[in-house]
Amino acid sequence: MKKVTVSLIVAAVVLAVACNKKADNNTTTPVTTAYLDLPDTTTQFFVFGSSVQSEQVNQQAQLGRVLFYDRHLSINNATACADCHKQEYAFSDNAQFSRGFENRLTGRNSMALQNLGMINLKRSSNGQFLPSFNSSVNLFWDGRETNLENLVVRPIANHVEMGISNLETLPAKLQKLPYYNDLFVKAYGDNTVTLERISESVAVFLTSITANNTRFDQSRISGGGTVELNARELHGRQLFNVKYNCASCHQLNPGPYNANIENFANIGLDEHTTDKGAGAIKGANMDGVFKAPSLRNVAVTAPYMHDGRYATLEDVIDHYSKKIQPHSNLDQRLRDNDGKPMKMNITEDEKQSLVAFLRTFTDYHMLTEPMYQNPFKTR
Ligand code: HEC
Ligand code: HEC
Repeated sequence: MKKVTVSLIVAAVVLAVACNKKADNNTTTPVTTAYLDLPDTTTQFFVFGSSVQSEQVNQQAQLGRVLFYDRHLSINNATACADCHKQEYAFSDNAQFSRGFENRLTGRNSMALQNLGMINLKRSSNGQFLPSFNSSVNLFWDGRETNLENLVVRPIANHVEMGISNLETLPAKLQKLPYYNDLFVKAYGDNTVTLERISESVAVFLTSITANNTRFDQSRISGGGTVELNARELHGRQLFNVKYNCASCHQLNPGPYNANIENFANIGLDEHTTDKGAGAIKGANMDGVFKAPSLRNVAVTAPYMHDGRYATLEDVIDHYSKKIQPHSNLDQRLRDNDGKPMKMNITEDEKQSLVAFLRTFTDYHMLTEPMYQNPFKTR
């Protein structure tokens, strides 16, 4: 396939900073060359009714993908979204906390990015097709954002993550990078970089990332029923859906993961909450309440929980089995008949089955799909 390559110089300083803060002042660090490697033809992130519509939105997704992987979105060109959201881990991070610019650590565990929503098309005043997003998804561990487009610019401005405190400076900065010219023209008809276009295109790219092609889905009649789960997995499914009622908080349906209030809970991680979670926004009766994340790809998103405290799925199950702590906000579904923290006493055999079932939620296609990969290559 014919490739267009655009060269850009990225100071190696940038990479060094991520590992060693001292490199910051080192002006003699050699430079490496990174270049953009994109196919000539439009990548099919989405398929819509007409090819005209698809073309436009797919070009926006491609632009969003480049932005997602571009370290120029951070104040010191050191951190891209993709540094904390890695494809092989379902766009989460394998570290308990992630490093943002200047080595600062995030206060919470990075989240998987998948099934974030649906887009519809609206026609703009100049006759172009623009995406419109379904607007009520509860995002972040505490659900503080409900609009994907708004969320996207937050990490850029967040001082811990990407550090550009004055977002208004970002468009001018990106406008100077030669490769964005062509990408903006293809996505929006002209090369003007605006914050709105940045957020929108990244949101379009994120929306294209779906995790609905799993053994679990294939085993369902709605998913074609082409796969049969083995005895272990079926046992796990029964425990998950019925005996331990995990499904009451963790929705398994394919499609957008629209976590609503029933999917938020205090699961008794600590008797005394340090991170208030939703409580910091909604008041003390929500202290320690967090979103029950989608369990799609959960086998590859370790460590677990909002603070990444558990290294393995077995550790998570041990929590539900024996370690639920008392808390005034502890969810009713995790209390026994006396209102005390439930002790599920999950046996070793049941634990194995639950883990086997959780492993059927992995979408290997999503984890390896080329169109989600880093479009920047280094020589
Ligand atoms: C330094 C690490 C870091 C960087 C850089 C980063 N993120 Fe995140 N991201 C996180 C963490 C940590 C969370 C969870 C934060 C919370 O809940 O308070 C998160 C949460 C999210 C969520 C919410 C997902 C959900 O299901 O609720 C989205 C979407 C997201 N990030 C997108 C992005 C985008 C887009 C960028 C780049 C513009 C980006 N992130 C850059 C660490 C990072
Ligand atoms: C009352 C609702 C509720 C029930 C019941 C429940 N969970 Fe959870 N689960 C949550 C919430 C909320 C979180 C996130 C908690 C946090 O980080 O503070 C979570 C986190 C998890 C995680 C970690 C996900 C990640 O990406 O970090 C796994 C795995 C998990 N639960 C599995 C299970 C299993 C298996 C069961 C049944 C034995 C179960 N859950 C029952 C609400 C629930």
